[in-house]
Amino acid sequence: MIMSSDPKVAEQPAKGRDQLLHVANLKKYFPIRGGVLNRVVNHVKAVNDVTFDIARGEVVGLVGESGSGKTTVGRTILRLEQATEGSIDFDGADINRLNKPQMRRYRKRMQIVFQDPYASLNPREKIRTVLGHALALHNIGTPSDRDDRIVALLEQVGLSSDYINRFPHEFSGGQRQRIGIARALAVEPEFIVADEPVSALDVSIQAQVINLMDDLREKFSLTMLFIAHDLAVVEHISDRVIVMYLGKIMEIAPTRALYRVPNHPYTQALLSAVPNPDITERKERVILKGDIPSPINPPSGCVFRTRCPIAIADCASIVPPLKQVAPDHYSACIRTAGV
Ligand SMILES: Nc1ncnc2c1ncn2[C@@H]1O[C@H](COP(=O)(O)OP(=O)(O)OP(=O)(O)O)[C@@H](O)[C@H]1O
Ligand SMILES: [Mg+2]
Repeated sequence: MIMSSDPKVAEQPAKGRDQLLHVANLKKYFPIRGGVLNRVVNHVKAVNDVTFDIARGEVVGLVGESGSGKTTVGRTILRLEQATEGSIDFDGADINRLNKPQMRRYRKRMQIVFQDPYASLNPREKIRTVLGHALALHNIGTPSDRDDRIVALLEQVGLSSDYINRFPHEFSGGQRQRIGIARALAVEPEFIVADEPVSALDVSIQAQVINLMDDLREKFSLTMLFIAHDLAVVEHISDRVIVMYLGKIMEIAPTRALYRVPNHPYTQALLSAVPNPDITERKERVILKGDIPSPINPPSGCVFRTRCPIAIADCASIVPPLKQVAPDHYSACIRTAGV
């Protein structure tokens, strides 16, 4: 369900959905410093007024081209970055306002899986140490039962128990990502941000890791924000998908609806690049012209207009609101969804 800062746009309670996370009007601007005085001369508008929610047990896919702000959304939600503006409500608490001890308790409930498992694992630490640290940090188990927990974790992610004494370089990319997942699971979180967890892997291994995450989600009733470049990657695992472009949400919809009846021209362009046997009527591939503009000076009105195949003059002056186009389906385009 989407809520908007604009009262004219449909504001709805999460009907029938038990909300775990509600992000409202989130902005994250990174300052750019310059000049001899090293003053803030400008900002990178990495996330620019984003509103969405995630229900308990739901997996929401977050897609968009490089630089659209996906990682920044994920990191800000986990408060690895401090939001510039907006609220992040996690199970009733505004994450932005928690002090350090309060945040510690929430850290245990929210975990992240990174894109590059190798960079996120210390090469000098055996797997026992890597996972043991995660457990010790959150006071889970006793030192004597930690090995048993670690073995159980390895088994849950499909790795043999004797890997406990190995170093990260002794694993394949897919196995390392399984360790990254085990590390996130170690603290028994409710919510996981998976930031391109399979992008660094071979296509054949990608499906295995996605299937594993799907199984774990079921087993541990996990709620997930699953970030990817590619719409094909999130289709299988996501209940809903958010499409981002230049710091803004373009479209948000239940997965099936997004793939079958995409509303936004940006989503249509992304989808036209995905071979999809579900779509009976083959759409012609839409090639977007030009590069993604700079988030320092995003285009006025609709940020996508400079690359949009159906833009009109009004698109330069009207910031398109997210309008409901079908149940649970919202799109920000004055041409296809209205003003
Ligand atoms: N710490 C930072 N300082 C300054 N700018 C940043 C910082 N982190 C991200 N940005 C900028 O914010 C914008 C969004 O970056 P972000 O990493 O969130 O995009 P992304 O969608 O995750 O891209 P990718 O698909 O390449 O991972 C980019 O223009 C990026 O250069
Ligand atoms: Mg990223």
